[in-house]
Amino acid sequence: MAEAGNLKGRSSPFTRFVDEVRQTADLVTLVSPHVPLKRSGNKLKGLCPFHQEKTPSFYVDETKQLFYCFGCGKGGDAFKFLMMQEKVEFIEAARMLGEQFGIRPPERDVAGAAARERVGAVLEAARQFYHERLLDRTTGAAARAYLKKRGVTGETARRLELGYAPPGWESLRGALMAKGFAEPALIDAGLLVRRQTGGSYDRFRNRILFPIRNVSGRCLGFGGRGLGEEEPKYLNSPESVAYRKGEHLFGLDLTGQAVRSQGTAVLVEGYMDFLSVFQAGIENVVAPLGTAFTGSQATLLRRFCNRVVLGFDSDRAGLAAAERALGQLLPLGFTVQILELPEGHDPDSFVRETGADSLRKRIEGARGWFEVVLERELAGKSVASLADRIAAVERLGPLVLKSPNRLERAAHAALLAQRLGVEEGVLWSELRRGTQPEAGASRASRLAPSAPEQSPAEYRLVRMLLEEPAWQQRLVPRLEESDFRDLRVRRIVGLMAEGLRLGHCRGTGDMLQALGEDPARDLLARFAVESAPSPSQEEAEACTQALERRRLQCERRKIQDEMEAETDPVRIGSLMQRKMSLSKQIDTLS
Ligand code: UTP
Ligand code: MN
Repeated sequence: MAEAGNLKGRSSPFTRFVDEVRQTADLVTLVSPHVPLKRSGNKLKGLCPFHQEKTPSFYVDETKQLFYCFGCGKGGDAFKFLMMQEKVEFIEAARMLGEQFGIRPPERDVAGAAARERVGAVLEAARQFYHERLLDRTTGAAARAYLKKRGVTGETARRLELGYAPPGWESLRGALMAKGFAEPALIDAGLLVRRQTGGSYDRFRNRILFPIRNVSGRCLGFGGRGLGEEEPKYLNSPESVAYRKGEHLFGLDLTGQAVRSQGTAVLVEGYMDFLSVFQAGIENVVAPLGTAFTGSQATLLRRFCNRVVLGFDSDRAGLAAAERALGQLLPLGFTVQILELPEGHDPDSFVRETGADSLRKRIEGARGWFEVVLERELAGKSVASLADRIAAVERLGPLVLKSPNRLERAAHAALLAQRLGVEEGVLWSELRRGTQPEAGASRASRLAPSAPEQSPAEYRLVRMLLEEPAWQQRLVPRLEESDFRDLRVRRIVGLMAEGLRLGHCRGTGDMLQALGEDPARDLLARFAVESAPSPSQEEAEACTQALERRRLQCERRKIQDEMEAETDPVRIGSLMQRKMSLSKQIDTLS
């Protein structure tokens, strides 16, 4: 396979190091001590080290420097192999490979590390200062009374090392500067706010403080709850050299182990929800940090579990937040369930009112996200008439396709069909053709991570574009993201398009790197390792046209529907014109 050249504008010393390692490290040398390999055709094969098996389905492609297991669906390059084998992060894997294959890692970012170190020390001292203020008999009395009123025990306050920022403007400033910390470091850490007139004052005043930590327990900042009705209700540390909000989850340092051992995380919206749920003995809980749940947070969580129970408020804002979180979680292959609470409750208020057992029961009984959303969408709506059912399919059908897992899609389609009283076959043909699971597929292939057994146009096309990256230039710009039904294929083609914008055609190795933990990575590795049928320009063109045609036909159907619902003759006329022009375009394609 033709490999893309180095990426433009992306050559920090570390990327250069990684590129060099990638070119030098040999996957067979790396794998052999762990997996005895036998030659089989132009590949090597052996027993997969990542799952139990008796017959070898783990393949290594020496020329492409990739592995893929047809049993468990895991695949990738040398970095990935080491990350999985040794359970290390990418950077660590790169260093290990560098050592084994004789490539020196770059000097670390000394200035950046020093700045982070300095801010880290300040934050740690502040955390301790605030915690002591909370425990202080007189200073902390009001804060402790507030916590008590909210049902937070002293033990919980100590375990989370909650703090209290006294009301003064210079409580922390005075104490820490007296200990020798410099004002600029306190400002960089987000603890002091600079005055326009010079000098600075405490950011947090008269608030309960929740220390925010990374997974290794290092304090990154604080969330501060006012004791009364003051605005804002919560004041949060700003981002700093040491802290980016979208990359951490509140509480994961405490609860990561429970999350991992249970394979499930309960994701709640707020600090108080976290506190109450944790205190109720549900120790696999995490929360975002006062911002919407991000993709990086989902990726972080994926390292710990593959199931999430969304415990958001039962109000409108909570539902919207849950929907956004779903959008981040589903593409990563999470199973998502929704904790349903009575109107007006959040997990904190619910557990306070009904007790820990009652919350635990609800979490254990949480229903799948699709079922909950389906019910909510159809609540109070009739599905008696044909028009009602068509409208419902249009609204809810796309949700069926949201899940990247084929078995889950099938289950959701069955649920929708049953609820609407339409035949499943009809529903599927109305959704998009080609996503239906093949009835005769073997158990193994059905359980393998949604492997594209047959090769619909999008799979064939993307394989060819991987084999012949030069064709990307001509074909990728003609396609839109939504032309691809498989979200993983979307990701891959999205990366190709991004590469083209930067002026080059991306190869497999480079894309594997860019995909990190994305489920698209396994598919990409599989495509690379499987011997693809030799690509032809004509076939690539035909596949592209098939995808274009499908998009145009879908558009034409929508216009047709609109025409049928429209009464204004002028609008009908213009719709008709658009429909005709679409038909012409479709004809030129075939
Ligand atoms: P909520 O308003 O739902 O608060 O905000 P809550 O967690 O139920 O708090 P209590 O029970 O009234 O004390 C949810 C989360 O949104 C962020 C915080 O992270 C909070 O925990 N938030 C909310 C802010 O960052 N700033 C605000 O002013 C409000
Ligand atoms: Mn609340």
